[in-house]
Amino acid sequence: MRRQAVAAAVVLSLCLSGDPSFADNASAAAPTSPPAAPAAAAPASPPMDAAGFRPPPKDSIPPGPYGDMVKLGRDIFRETGTYAQDFVGNKLRCSNCHLDAGRLPGAAPLWAAWVAFPAYRAKNKHVNTFAERMQGCFRFSMNGKAPPLGDKVLVALQTYSAWLARGAPVGAELPGRGYPRLAKPASAPDYMRGQSIYQAKCALCHGPTGQGQSAGGTLVFPPLWGNESFNWGAGMQQVDAAAAFIKRNMPLGLGGTLSDQDAWDVALFVDSQERPQDPRFNGSVAETRQKFHNSPWSMYGESVNGHVLGSPTNPDSPAGQSTRGAAR
Ligand code: HEC
Ligand code: HEC
Repeated sequence: MRRQAVAAAVVLSLCLSGDPSFADNASAAAPTSPPAAPAAAAPASPPMDAAGFRPPPKDSIPPGPYGDMVKLGRDIFRETGTYAQDFVGNKLRCSNCHLDAGRLPGAAPLWAAWVAFPAYRAKNKHVNTFAERMQGCFRFSMNGKAPPLGDKVLVALQTYSAWLARGAPVGAELPGRGYPRLAKPASAPDYMRGQSIYQAKCALCHGPTGQGQSAGGTLVFPPLWGNESFNWGAGMQQVDAAAAFIKRNMPLGLGGTLSDQDAWDVALFVDSQERPQDPRFNGSVAETRQKFHNSPWSMYGESVNGHVLGSPTNPDSPAGQSTRGAAR
């Protein structure tokens, strides 16, 4: 316990001494990111090579009103609660799930998304523009409100994304897009195994009850469940998406070290905890599950430890879970 606390303090101070959003750690951890190209204005080398698409160097945002909008988009993406507070309902930042400020392959990078929209989405059964796709992450992942189309927040995020994608082929399915899905697990994901992995490899940073950690009022490690996390409508509550993200990117700086089975197990554990209600909730958990969560990879409406996940009779907190008892 004491050793854990010391280790946590070390990790915490490492984090605080660097970029609070972990941008640099994350990119250092990426096995595929080649050394940054020189910030020359002339696109001498093509942005596509054997290693895949490379976004422009961080320090090459041009001066002037266009560059200012790119920078605003980057700032919104990294410090969402500060720069887009009207639209955020939890403690997360966009860059908590789209690492290195939306640049990192395998962590749903913005440059790969930009060239892939407009696109049909099964989630809402129509063709979505890029702006509408981002509205979805505000509503569900940020447990907030969608900025209206044309709002400066969306304009800035679009401008930043387009700038990152400069030179990428339009319509391409770029390598590194999204979270690379894992093969089906060898044995069904298991809550108890997931709980042990969580305690051994995740709790140090994300906290024993998944609430994350702040230092000096700044969030350092994001919450994985509870009131301040993403809600039941978010992509990350799908066990397959979470397993893919975790396998590739977690523990932070050690992405790729968990076995596939461990990633599935710990994803199931995280996604079996209580979190804010799905904003599409119609008063019935069973109907909401049928309509929006009809998938083996959503735990919404499933009974875990005698508690129906998403049930409004339980306060929307990490309540009613065996982990709660274990952690306190
Ligand atoms: C060394 C600290 C550390 C460890 C250990 C760690 N994480 Fe993280 N995790 C982070 C940080 C920091 C972020 C946000 C990254 C960013 O903003 O660049 C994050 C982001 C996440 C996210 C997405 C954001 C959210 O709040 O939902 C998930 C899911 C996640 N981690 C799960 C895990 C799991 C599961 C483990 C254990 C296998 C784990 N993490 C271990 C530091 C850590
Ligand atoms: C809790 C984690 C989380 C947070 C926070 C989050 N997102 Fe996402 N986002 C996801 C997931 C999961 C996906 C789907 C990725 C996949 O399935 O491979 C996604 C997808 C996207 C996509 C489409 C990617 C593609 O290639 O199709 C965009 C664009 C996007 N998010 C923007 C944002 C913006 C802007 C914010 C902040 C307002 C944000 N996200 C916050 C988890 C998150």
